[in-house]
Amino acid sequence: MENHPLVKEILFSKEEIEVRTKQLAREIESYYKSRDVKENTVILIGLLKGCIPFMADFIKNFDHECQTEYMVVSSYLGGTKTTGEPKINLDLNISIKDKHILIIEDVIDSGITLEYIKNYLSLKGAKEVKVVTLLDKREGRKVNIEADWSGFVIKNEFVIGYGLDYDERLRNLPYVAVCDVDKLKDWKW
Ligand code: IMP
Ligand code: MG
Repeated sequence: MENHPLVKEILFSKEEIEVRTKQLAREIESYYKSRDVKENTVILIGLLKGCIPFMADFIKNFDHECQTEYMVVSSYLGGTKTTGEPKINLDLNISIKDKHILIIEDVIDSGITLEYIKNYLSLKGAKEVKVVTLLDKREGRKVNIEADWSGFVIKNEFVIGYGLDYDERLRNLPYVAVCDVDKLKDWKW
């Protein structure tokens, strides 16, 4: 398969991501096993839509009792810069009171989305809210928040593929790549 013409550089192949995701699943399982989580159930909350490929890999490897739920929280509004005002477009319809939550995210940039959701879930009575992210743009942080587990730390560049989009496209690329943003201005889909 040819690389997409908007790809500037491939950062991680499908195979590399799968290997790393398995490691994360092992680490996170051990964490919950060592904590002796009551009822033995962790609620995995995937943040749509970007979480899909990563979460699909993750749950197949996560050997621990869990439920899967999803939320849609938007803050990008289509471009390559965050608006900084998260908004819940799809909420949970289960009670998470006293539950152990693991948020599954594609990438953390400013951290604003994650901070907002963590606060929201804590207000709903979650016992603990942990976070795993495939990618972590540490240099992009505007608030003081960190993932509990991250797949790869990347530079502050706009990335596409493996769930990550530009304007809802390119989520289907089977790798994570730096986007050639100079080409986007006059790009015809
Ligand atoms: P934050 O609130 O700035 O941390 O942004 C988090 C959200 O912005 C992520 O869940 C992504 O949906 C989106 N995002 C951040 N960086 C990128 C990127 O490089 N490519 C595509 N989406 C991104
Ligand atoms: Mg996201």
